[in-house]
Amino acid sequence: MSLQFVNTSTSWTANELKKHPGWIYSLSKFELEEINDAIFNSSDYGLEKINKTTFSIPSLSKRIYENFFPQLECGIGTLLIRGINIDNYTYDECEKLFYGIGAYFGVALPQSTNGETLHRVEDLGFHRDDDKARGTNTKSDICFHNDPCDVASLFCIRSAKQGGLSKLVNSIAIHNKMLRDCPDLLEELYQPFYTLRHRANTTMKQPFTARPIFSFEENTFVCNVLRRYISLAQDHPDIPKMTNKQHKALAVFDELADSDELCHKFYLQPGDLWFVNNYTTLHSREAYFDDTHAENKRLLLRLWLSVANSRPLPESYRPIYRNIEPGSLRGGYMPTDN
Ligand SMILES: [Fe+2]
Repeated sequence: MSLQFVNTSTSWTANELKKHPGWIYSLSKFELEEINDAIFNSSDYGLEKINKTTFSIPSLSKRIYENFFPQLECGIGTLLIRGINIDNYTYDECEKLFYGIGAYFGVALPQSTNGETLHRVEDLGFHRDDDKARGTNTKSDICFHNDPCDVASLFCIRSAKQGGLSKLVNSIAIHNKMLRDCPDLLEELYQPFYTLRHRANTTMKQPFTARPIFSFEENTFVCNVLRRYISLAQDHPDIPKMTNKQHKALAVFDELADSDELCHKFYLQPGDLWFVNNYTTLHSREAYFDDTHAENKRLLLRLWLSVANSRPLPESYRPIYRNIEPGSLRGGYMPTDN
Protein backbone atom coordinates (compact mmCIF):
# COMPACT_ATOMS: atom_id res chain seq x y z
CA MET A 1 0.00 0.00 0.00
CA SER A 2 1.41 3.37 -0.98
CA LEU A 3 0.74 5.95 1.72
CA GLN A 4 0.92 9.66 1.08
CA PHE A 5 1.13 12.82 3.15
CA VAL A 6 -2.12 14.77 3.24
CA ASN A 7 -2.20 18.43 2.24
CA THR A 8 -0.53 20.16 5.16
CA SER A 9 -2.24 23.51 4.52
CA THR A 10 -5.35 22.06 6.16
CA SER A 11 -3.57 20.42 9.09
CA TRP A 12 -2.46 22.11 12.28
CA THR A 13 -0.85 21.50 15.62
CA ALA A 14 -2.26 22.95 18.86
CA ASN A 15 0.06 25.96 18.68
CA GLU A 16 -0.67 26.56 15.01
CA LEU A 17 -4.42 26.55 15.62
CA LYS A 18 -4.13 28.98 18.53
CA LYS A 19 -2.29 31.45 16.28
CA HIS A 20 -4.45 30.88 13.22
CA PRO A 21 -6.46 34.01 12.32
CA GLY A 22 -9.47 31.92 11.28
CA TRP A 23 -9.84 29.97 14.52
CA ILE A 24 -11.68 32.57 16.60
CA TYR A 25 -14.01 35.10 15.05
CA SER A 26 -15.38 37.92 17.22
CA LEU A 27 -18.75 39.14 16.01
CA SER A 28 -18.83 42.84 15.12
CA LYS A 29 -21.22 45.27 16.79
CA PHE A 30 -23.15 45.45 13.54
CA GLU A 31 -23.48 41.66 13.29
CA LEU A 32 -24.63 41.45 16.92
CA GLU A 33 -27.31 44.07 16.20
CA GLU A 34 -28.34 42.09 13.13
CA ILE A 35 -28.76 38.97 15.31
CA ASN A 36 -30.82 40.99 17.81
CA ASP A 37 -33.08 42.20 15.00
CA ALA A 38 -33.48 38.66 13.62
CA ILE A 39 -34.53 37.38 17.05
CA PHE A 40 -36.97 40.28 17.48
CA ASN A 41 -38.43 39.80 13.99
CA SER A 42 -38.96 36.08 14.56
CA SER A 43 -40.64 36.50 17.94
CA ASP A 44 -43.97 35.22 16.57
CA TYR A 45 -42.44 32.00 15.25
CA GLY A 46 -41.77 28.71 16.98
CA LEU A 47 -38.44 27.01 16.48
CA GLU A 48 -39.86 24.86 13.66
CA LYS A 49 -40.47 28.03 11.60
CA ILE A 50 -36.92 29.38 11.99
CA ASN A 51 -35.06 29.29 8.69
CA LYS A 52 -33.03 31.55 6.42
CA THR A 53 -36.15 33.50 5.44
CA THR A 54 -37.53 34.08 8.94
CA PHE A 55 -34.09 34.67 10.52
CA SER A 56 -32.50 37.29 8.30
CA ILE A 57 -28.84 38.16 8.99
CA PRO A 58 -27.62 39.55 5.63
CA SER A 59 -24.18 40.71 6.70
CA LEU A 60 -23.26 37.70 8.85
CA SER A 61 -24.66 35.27 6.28
CA LYS A 62 -22.36 36.80 3.65
CA ARG A 63 -19.42 36.11 5.96
CA ILE A 64 -20.67 32.57 6.56
CA TYR A 65 -20.84 31.80 2.84
CA GLU A 66 -17.63 33.57 1.85
CA ASN A 67 -15.37 32.74 4.81
CA PHE A 68 -16.71 30.19 7.27
CA PHE A 69 -18.10 27.71 4.75
CA PRO A 70 -14.82 27.23 2.84
CA GLN A 71 -12.83 27.30 6.08
CA LEU A 72 -14.80 24.37 7.50
CA GLU A 73 -14.59 22.15 4.41
CA CYS A 74 -11.37 23.23 2.68
CA GLY A 75 -9.41 24.98 5.44
CA ILE A 76 -8.69 24.35 9.12
CA GLY A 77 -12.02 22.55 9.63
CA THR A 78 -13.11 24.41 12.73
CA LEU A 79 -14.35 27.80 13.87
CA LEU A 80 -15.16 29.43 17.20
CA ILE A 81 -17.50 32.41 17.05
CA ARG A 82 -17.46 34.66 20.10
CA GLY A 83 -19.20 37.82 21.25
CA ILE A 84 -22.78 36.75 21.99
CA ASN A 85 -23.93 37.89 25.41
CA ILE A 86 -26.19 35.11 26.66
CA ASP A 87 -27.59 37.39 29.38
CA ASN A 88 -29.36 39.42 26.70
CA TYR A 89 -31.59 36.52 25.72
CA THR A 90 -34.18 34.14 27.11
CA TYR A 91 -33.60 30.41 26.69
CA ASP A 92 -36.10 30.27 23.78
CA GLU A 93 -34.30 33.15 22.09
CA CYS A 94 -30.99 31.31 22.49
CA GLU A 95 -32.51 28.31 20.70
CA LYS A 96 -33.72 30.55 17.86
CA LEU A 97 -30.39 32.33 17.62
CA PHE A 98 -28.50 29.06 17.26
CA TYR A 99 -31.01 27.41 14.96
CA GLY A 100 -31.22 30.55 12.82
CA ILE A 101 -27.45 30.95 12.41
CA GLY A 102 -27.09 27.18 11.91
CA ALA A 103 -29.55 27.30 9.00
CA TYR A 104 -26.98 29.26 6.99
CA PHE A 105 -24.39 26.53 7.50
CA GLY A 106 -26.53 23.55 6.57
CA VAL A 107 -29.59 21.39 7.11
CA ALA A 108 -30.21 20.43 10.76
CA LEU A 109 -30.38 16.64 11.11
CA PRO A 110 -32.23 14.47 13.64
CA GLN A 111 -29.98 13.64 16.58
CA SER A 112 -32.18 11.00 18.13
CA THR A 113 -34.67 8.55 16.76
CA ASN A 114 -37.50 10.76 18.02
CA GLY A 115 -36.40 13.30 15.41
CA GLU A 116 -35.12 16.20 17.53
CA THR A 117 -32.89 18.48 15.50
CA LEU A 118 -31.71 20.67 18.40
CA HIS A 119 -30.12 18.58 21.11
CA ARG A 120 -29.48 19.65 24.70
CA VAL A 121 -26.08 18.60 26.01
CA GLU A 122 -26.57 18.38 29.78
CA ASP A 123 -26.05 15.90 32.57
CA LEU A 124 -29.29 14.02 33.23
CA GLY A 125 -27.74 11.93 35.97
CA PHE A 126 -27.05 8.84 33.87
CA HIS A 127 -24.05 6.66 34.44
CA ARG A 128 -22.02 6.08 31.27
CA ASP A 129 -23.14 2.41 31.16
CA ASP A 130 -26.88 3.06 31.63
CA ASP A 131 -29.08 2.04 28.69
CA LYS A 132 -30.32 5.58 28.17
CA ALA A 133 -26.90 7.19 28.52
CA ARG A 134 -25.16 8.86 25.62
CA GLY A 135 -22.09 11.04 25.95
CA THR A 136 -24.16 14.18 25.90
CA ASN A 137 -26.43 13.35 28.86
CA THR A 138 -23.72 12.41 31.36
CA LYS A 139 -20.96 14.41 33.01
CA SER A 140 -18.40 11.70 32.25
CA ASP A 141 -15.45 12.19 29.99
CA ILE A 142 -16.04 11.45 26.29
CA CYS A 143 -13.17 9.98 24.28
CA PHE A 144 -12.15 11.15 20.82
CA HIS A 145 -14.73 10.75 18.08
CA ASN A 146 -16.50 12.38 15.17
CA ASP A 147 -20.22 13.04 15.18
CA PRO A 148 -22.20 11.29 12.36
CA CYS A 149 -22.66 14.38 10.18
CA ASP A 150 -20.62 16.73 7.99
CA VAL A 151 -20.42 19.58 10.50
CA ALA A 152 -21.33 19.59 14.19
CA SER A 153 -21.90 22.73 16.19
CA LEU A 154 -22.23 23.55 19.88
CA PHE A 155 -23.66 26.69 21.45
CA CYS A 156 -22.60 27.17 25.05
CA ILE A 157 -25.37 28.49 27.29
CA ARG A 158 -23.71 27.72 30.64
CA SER A 159 -20.33 26.21 31.46
CA ALA A 160 -19.64 23.71 34.24
CA LYS A 161 -18.69 24.66 37.78
CA GLN A 162 -15.49 22.71 37.30
CA GLY A 163 -14.04 20.71 34.40
CA GLY A 164 -15.62 20.01 31.01
CA LEU A 165 -12.47 20.87 29.07
CA SER A 166 -13.07 20.60 25.32
CA LYS A 167 -10.42 18.95 23.16
CA LEU A 168 -9.94 19.32 19.45
CA VAL A 169 -7.38 17.64 17.23
CA ASN A 170 -6.74 17.72 13.50
CA SER A 171 -6.93 14.17 12.15
CA ILE A 172 -4.70 15.04 9.17
CA ALA A 173 -1.95 16.02 11.63
CA ILE A 174 -2.29 12.62 13.38
CA HIS A 175 -2.16 10.89 10.00
CA ASN A 176 0.94 12.72 8.80
CA LYS A 177 2.78 12.24 12.09
CA MET A 178 2.10 8.50 11.98
CA LEU A 179 3.30 8.40 8.38
CA ARG A 180 6.60 9.96 9.47
CA ASP A 181 7.07 7.96 12.68
CA CYS A 182 5.36 4.58 12.20
CA PRO A 183 4.06 4.02 8.64
CA ASP A 184 3.46 0.31 9.29
CA LEU A 185 1.01 1.18 12.08
CA LEU A 186 -0.63 3.89 10.00
CA GLU A 187 -1.30 1.28 7.32
CA GLU A 188 -3.35 -0.67 9.88
CA LEU A 189 -5.67 2.31 10.28
CA TYR A 190 -6.54 2.14 6.58
CA GLN A 191 -8.06 -1.29 7.21
CA PRO A 192 -11.64 -1.69 8.51
CA PHE A 193 -12.25 -1.48 12.27
CA TYR A 194 -15.42 -2.96 13.67
CA THR A 195 -17.52 -0.32 15.38
CA LEU A 196 -20.63 -1.08 17.39
CA ARG A 197 -23.81 0.79 16.46
CA HIS A 198 -24.17 3.83 18.69
CA ARG A 199 -26.61 3.20 21.52
CA ALA A 200 -28.72 6.22 20.54
CA ASN A 201 -29.04 5.08 16.91
CA THR A 202 -31.83 2.58 17.43
CA THR A 203 -33.13 2.69 13.86
CA MET A 204 -29.89 1.59 12.18
CA LYS A 205 -30.37 -2.00 11.00
CA GLN A 206 -26.83 -3.34 11.39
CA PRO A 207 -25.64 -3.96 14.97
CA PHE A 208 -22.14 -2.94 13.90
CA THR A 209 -20.20 -1.64 10.91
CA ALA A 210 -16.64 -2.06 9.72
CA ARG A 211 -14.89 0.98 8.28
CA PRO A 212 -11.34 2.29 8.14
CA ILE A 213 -10.24 5.11 10.40
CA PHE A 214 -8.40 6.81 7.53
CA SER A 215 -9.57 6.71 3.91
CA PHE A 216 -9.15 8.53 0.65
CA GLU A 217 -12.23 8.86 -1.49
CA GLU A 218 -11.80 10.49 -4.91
CA ASN A 219 -8.43 11.74 -3.67
CA THR A 220 -10.06 13.39 -0.67
CA PHE A 221 -9.00 12.59 2.89
CA VAL A 222 -11.63 11.27 5.31
CA CYS A 223 -11.16 10.27 8.94
CA ASN A 224 -13.84 8.67 11.04
CA VAL A 225 -13.58 7.09 14.46
CA LEU A 226 -16.01 6.42 17.26
CA ARG A 227 -13.28 5.34 19.62
CA ARG A 228 -15.40 4.07 22.52
CA TYR A 229 -17.60 2.00 20.21
CA ILE A 230 -14.55 0.36 18.62
CA SER A 231 -13.57 -0.83 22.11
CA LEU A 232 -17.13 -1.90 22.96
CA ALA A 233 -17.33 -3.86 19.69
CA GLN A 234 -14.69 -6.22 21.02
CA ASP A 235 -17.29 -7.72 23.39
CA HIS A 236 -19.68 -8.60 20.53
CA PRO A 237 -19.70 -12.36 19.84
CA ASP A 238 -19.77 -11.94 16.03
CA ILE A 239 -16.85 -9.51 15.87
CA PRO A 240 -13.30 -10.83 15.53
CA LYS A 241 -10.78 -9.78 18.15
CA MET A 242 -8.35 -7.07 17.09
CA THR A 243 -4.78 -8.11 16.33
CA ASN A 244 -1.84 -6.91 18.42
CA LYS A 245 -0.86 -4.64 15.57
CA GLN A 246 -4.33 -3.07 15.47
CA HIS A 247 -4.16 -2.48 19.23
CA LYS A 248 -0.74 -0.91 18.83
CA ALA A 249 -1.90 1.34 15.99
CA LEU A 250 -4.90 2.53 18.01
CA ALA A 251 -2.69 3.16 21.05
CA VAL A 252 -0.44 5.45 18.99
CA PHE A 253 -3.52 7.13 17.49
CA ASP A 254 -4.97 7.73 20.98
CA GLU A 255 -1.69 9.08 22.30
CA LEU A 256 -1.26 11.53 19.43
CA ALA A 257 -4.90 12.67 19.59
CA ASP A 258 -4.45 13.70 23.23
CA SER A 259 -0.88 14.95 22.94
CA ASP A 260 0.03 18.49 23.99
CA GLU A 261 1.61 18.97 20.59
CA LEU A 262 -1.47 18.21 18.49
CA CYS A 263 -4.51 18.62 20.73
CA HIS A 264 -5.94 22.06 21.42
CA LYS A 265 -7.63 22.12 24.82
CA PHE A 266 -9.95 24.93 25.78
CA TYR A 267 -13.07 25.79 27.77
CA LEU A 268 -16.21 26.77 25.96
CA GLN A 269 -17.55 30.02 27.41
CA PRO A 270 -21.21 31.07 27.56
CA GLY A 271 -22.10 32.56 24.17
CA ASP A 272 -19.49 30.57 22.21
CA LEU A 273 -20.57 28.96 18.94
CA TRP A 274 -18.20 26.17 17.92
CA PHE A 275 -18.19 24.40 14.55
CA VAL A 276 -16.18 21.32 13.54
CA ASN A 277 -15.72 19.40 10.31
CA ASN A 278 -16.15 15.76 11.27
CA TYR A 279 -13.89 14.35 8.54
CA THR A 280 -10.77 16.37 9.37
CA THR A 281 -11.07 16.90 13.12
CA LEU A 282 -11.84 14.81 16.20
CA HIS A 283 -13.20 16.11 19.47
CA SER A 284 -13.56 14.93 23.05
CA ARG A 285 -14.46 16.29 26.48
CA GLU A 286 -13.19 15.85 29.99
CA ALA A 287 -15.53 15.01 32.88
CA TYR A 288 -17.05 17.88 34.83
CA PHE A 289 -18.78 18.85 38.07
CA ASP A 290 -21.94 20.90 38.11
CA ASP A 291 -23.29 23.55 40.40
CA THR A 292 -25.94 22.14 42.76
CA HIS A 293 -28.59 24.59 41.48
CA ALA A 294 -30.34 23.25 38.37
CA GLU A 295 -30.44 26.69 36.75
CA ASN A 296 -26.64 26.95 36.92
CA LYS A 297 -25.82 23.54 35.46
CA ARG A 298 -23.71 23.16 32.34
CA LEU A 299 -25.86 23.43 29.23
CA LEU A 300 -24.86 23.35 25.59
CA LEU A 301 -27.09 23.15 22.53
CA ARG A 302 -25.97 21.02 19.61
CA LEU A 303 -26.73 20.94 15.88
CA TRP A 304 -25.73 18.23 13.42
CA LEU A 305 -25.53 19.77 9.97
CA SER A 306 -25.50 18.37 6.47
CA VAL A 307 -23.65 20.92 4.33
CA ALA A 308 -23.81 21.72 0.61
CA ASN A 309 -20.04 21.64 0.00
CA SER A 310 -19.36 18.29 1.69
CA ARG A 311 -16.80 15.76 0.42
CA PRO A 312 -17.36 12.29 -1.06
CA LEU A 313 -17.40 9.46 1.48
CA PRO A 314 -16.31 5.82 1.12
CA GLU A 315 -18.92 3.11 0.50
CA SER A 316 -18.26 1.74 4.00
CA TYR A 317 -19.84 4.90 5.43
CA ARG A 318 -23.22 4.25 3.80
CA PRO A 319 -24.82 2.35 6.72
CA ILE A 320 -24.21 5.36 8.97
CA TYR A 321 -24.67 8.28 6.56
CA ARG A 322 -27.13 6.65 4.09
CA ASN A 323 -25.88 8.97 1.31
CA ILE A 324 -22.20 9.27 0.51
CA GLU A 325 -22.18 11.50 -2.56
CA PRO A 326 -20.61 14.95 -2.10
CA GLY A 327 -23.15 17.61 -1.17
CA SER A 328 -25.90 15.05 -0.52
CA LEU A 329 -28.26 15.23 2.44
CA ARG A 330 -26.73 12.73 4.87
CA GLY A 331 -25.97 11.83 8.45
CA GLY A 332 -27.87 12.09 11.71
CA TYR A 333 -30.16 9.37 13.02
CA MET A 334 -33.22 8.16 11.16
CA PRO A 335 -36.35 8.94 13.21
CA THR A 336 -38.67 6.02 13.95
CA ASP A 337 -41.84 5.86 11.80
CA ASN A 338 -44.62 6.99 14.11
FE1 LIG B 1 -19.37 14.76 19.57
